[in-house]
Amino acid sequence: MKDLNHAINSVLFVCLGNICRSPTAHAVFRQKAIAAKLPTKYDSAGTANYHSGATPDKRSRKHGESRGYDFSNLYARSVNDNDFEDYDLILAMDSANYQDLIQQCPHYYHDKIKYFLDFATDFPTVQEVPDPYYGGDKGFEYVLDLVENACDGLITYIESH
Ligand code: 4NP
Repeated sequence: MKDLNHAINSVLFVCLGNICRSPTAHAVFRQKAIAAKLPTKYDSAGTANYHSGATPDKRSRKHGESRGYDFSNLYARSVNDNDFEDYDLILAMDSANYQDLIQQCPHYYHDKIKYFLDFATDFPTVQEVPDPYYGGDKGFEYVLDLVENACDGLITYIESH
């Protein structure tokens, strides 16, 4: 990924519903950022608003908690216009999320929008975190594999910029 021209003090994780992938990224990043003593601000949001106020999907929670992540105090919300000003980096889980964000975002902030997996190191040929909503356990485990690796890469990036 091309280097960003600014320091990263805040990150927003974005998927469609904000109940599976982006809250998983939020929970994993929260734990890793606290462990690394990063002062970075973080949140997650969905491009759709049909789950606003909901806690993470039970399956995301079950699989994430079994790897030791805490899913408390996470409530779904949709992306709003202030997010493009308020966050230094806005990370899309898949190409539909990416396109929706580009549509909503003022042109002068387009550089802030990236694919989350740009920061993954172990999955060089994978660009998208697949939506696990209509699938089974394997999909939720794969989301966690991708999210853990991308969070590690993101933390390394933030620490070195
Ligand atoms: P997410 O997954 O975008 O990872 O939160 C989804 C959650 C809900 C739906 C789709 C995807 N839905 O269609 O309700």
